[in-house]
Amino acid sequence: MTATNDLTAAPHIDLLAETWARGVPHDQFDHLRREAPVYWHPEEGGSGFWAVTKHADVKRISRDPRTFSSELGGTFIPDQDEETLMMLRLSVLNMDDPQHTRYRNIVAKGFTPRVINKLVEDIDARAVRVVDEVVGRGECEFVNDIASKVPIQTICTMLGLDDELWPRMVELTNMMIGSLDDVGGDNAGQMAAMEVYALCDQMAAARRADPRDDIMTALVNAEVDGQRLDDGELNMFFVTLIVAGNETTRNLINHAMLAFIENPGEAERLRNDPSLWPTAIDEMLRYGASIHNFRRTATVDTEIRGTPISAGDKVVMYYSAANRDEDVFADPHRFDISRTPNDHVTFGGGGVHFCLGVSLAKAQIRATMHEVIHRLGDPQLAGPIRRLKSDFVNGVTEMPITFTPR
Ligand code: HEM
Repeated sequence: MTATNDLTAAPHIDLLAETWARGVPHDQFDHLRREAPVYWHPEEGGSGFWAVTKHADVKRISRDPRTFSSELGGTFIPDQDEETLMMLRLSVLNMDDPQHTRYRNIVAKGFTPRVINKLVEDIDARAVRVVDEVVGRGECEFVNDIASKVPIQTICTMLGLDDELWPRMVELTNMMIGSLDDVGGDNAGQMAAMEVYALCDQMAAARRADPRDDIMTALVNAEVDGQRLDDGELNMFFVTLIVAGNETTRNLINHAMLAFIENPGEAERLRNDPSLWPTAIDEMLRYGASIHNFRRTATVDTEIRGTPISAGDKVVMYYSAANRDEDVFADPHRFDISRTPNDHVTFGGGGVHFCLGVSLAKAQIRATMHEVIHRLGDPQLAGPIRRLKSDFVNGVTEMPITFTPR
């Protein structure tokens, strides 16, 4: 057996939580795409699921919601009891049509490129202030000092939440997402959710009494089939927007920072040629996808790439695997800020659930990374990175860095 054979030996496949705490398992994904692109993954305490790693399959599944339902079993991997499922189905993420379109339309107007363009000046100014606060120190803890700031401030402002609540909202979303990790201990996720719901109820009451030009006012006034949203529906909207608008973008910024630390030549290229920003943003998104996966449930017996799938089977789409598919991306493990075309699936594979926050996320990533690239010279890791133990969010919870103020 030669060394080359050793290198191509099959890695142990384990796509559940412990793996992600160590890093995105690209060795497993490379192997799966090549050898078993529709792989039956066993699951302790669960039914098991199909792990889908090819770009074309992620797109096909995303665009066929009749066959691959978001509502039947929800969009997270674990099997849920009926009570939890009922609650999850109050979120647009976990709805199928006709319900899904009705609810998505309520908030979609708040996220169009035109609306987001009006916010860009504010977003840019926030990013400047965030970097102003740390630039003189020559060191910072990147996640909390920089990456977390613009996303939470922006979504809180869009929802109409007061400024003094921003730090608490970061803590609460960390607890909700990090409940698999050790953030806050047992039950922390549920306690955090209760606090967010209570806040949402207060906000809803305030906006009913005193309407403003924000998403919360749109939510309390929205009607579906002639009915106003009830408290449970409002709560789920609120949580979906806060978590979707916060964790995802913050972690994308974390991974972008890491990519530039590891590829300083790309930062130099971007500083010297601002025309590269649009392709650079898409490459940051492709390379550092901040959501590992979303799940679907097959509604009928079907097949993917010739593999039979039974009605009721769980099907999990791995975005970071699809983003490194060699059939679509040349030299897929290379971080190349001028990559074109770049048909990444970081915001989903298209179709009805395609991310609502694309323009908002891109504006925030651009604003923050622009300040970082231009003002934090020669950034280096100053200690170990701490990663979130989650098979859903590609999270970094701690990243100490040093830099030379520019
Ligand atoms: C880099 C940042 C982001 C990433 C990686 C991301 C990723 C995704 C993905 C993969 C989906 C598809 C879900 C599915 O197919 O089941 C999605 C949906 C969604 N995203 Fe994002 N997202 C980001 C930022 C945002 C932001 C800033 C918002 C705004 C609040 C947002 C709001 C939503 C909503 C509401 C949905 C559900 C849409 C639906 O089910 O119809 N996202 N996102």
